[in-house]
Amino acid sequence: MIRDRVRVSSLLPDFPWDTIAGAKARAAAHPDGIVDLSVGTPVDPVDPLIRAALDSAADVPGYPATYGTPELREAAVAAVARRFGMSGIDSDAVLPVIGTKELIAGLPRLLGLGAADLVVIPEVAYPTYEVGALLSGSRILRADGMTRLGPESPALIYLNSPSNPTGRVLGIDHLRKVVSFARERGAIVASDECYLGLTWDAEAVSILDPRVSDGDHTGLLAIHSLSKTSNLASYRAGFVTGDVELIRELLEVRKHSGMMVPYPIQAAMTAALADDRHEAQQRERYRARREVLRKALVEAGFRIDHSEAGLYLWSTRGEDCRTTLDWLAERGILAAPGDFYGPTGTQHVRIALTATDERIAAAAVRLSA
Ligand SMILES: Cc1ncc(COP(=O)(O)O)c(C=O)c1O
Repeated sequence: MIRDRVRVSSLLPDFPWDTIAGAKARAAAHPDGIVDLSVGTPVDPVDPLIRAALDSAADVPGYPATYGTPELREAAVAAVARRFGMSGIDSDAVLPVIGTKELIAGLPRLLGLGAADLVVIPEVAYPTYEVGALLSGSRILRADGMTRLGPESPALIYLNSPSNPTGRVLGIDHLRKVVSFARERGAIVASDECYLGLTWDAEAVSILDPRVSDGDHTGLLAIHSLSKTSNLASYRAGFVTGDVELIRELLEVRKHSGMMVPYPIQAAMTAALADDRHEAQQRERYRARREVLRKALVEAGFRIDHSEAGLYLWSTRGEDCRTTLDWLAERGILAAPGDFYGPTGTQHVRIALTATDERIAAAAVRLSA
């Protein structure tokens, strides 16, 4: 008999997707098939330029560097400067990660946080922020504004602009307030910026934008993913940048733990970061899908909140999200219920733009029927 132990899985919430199995089965019964808009998984091709770079690095037998190749780190610095005006980043301050979910789930542990520490996450949030805090045994507070914190001194504050699931963009003033609050109280700010390249009705800026950071990256981490902007979710490709001391610390722990991005993936990332054409093309695909879906949802009586950027339409019919989920499932459409993302999300559903043009058009027809 194996002796009793604390099962790590018991510290974590139930996997919420099981709770929409019924809606999924109902949507799948539609004669023209399901339109699954519940997950944000890319469906468009990986650009040939990226595939060629992957292929060119296939015959490399040795271990990759945890720090990544200098070419990758330099390509990341150049890309964020070109695409987002994030100037003043040194390539020493870039660390590749095996997809950003992995980093987020491990970050509080990697930073040495524990039971005495508080992790602040957005009120409605990507669930992995909570998971990472739970895995480290830290306390968690959901707050969108720093006044909610009272006298607390958090160890880590998560930001996510543009947000999953709401598509909300935080303005420069808001970001500056968070940075200044964090600096007063000695907190680290981790800004998850995986949707920064997908903006529609508002400009989204990085925490490392000089208008936010004043050029001082101390205590700041910006987390960037190639999953959505370059259709590389299956490759597991992201990086974190910002405070060089924190990056070195993460590197040290990750080196010991074998948390290396495979070398062919590093080569593919380098090519993707050096090319803005495929990224712009992908953005335009999502822009077109968003227009079609947005119009159809509004005409079907939905209200769309926030959603100025990112890959989701945060939509409501002014009722419990599970009722809306059923209404959509009857029409063969699957969405994600807002209660997946936090207790204040219960009146919304999250509708993803990540389906083919054909499926998005089918959703629009069904919504108008
Ligand atoms: C807000 C947010 N952060 C991080 C991730 C993780 O992305 P990846 O692990 O593919 O880099 C996602 C994926 O959906 C996300 O929505």
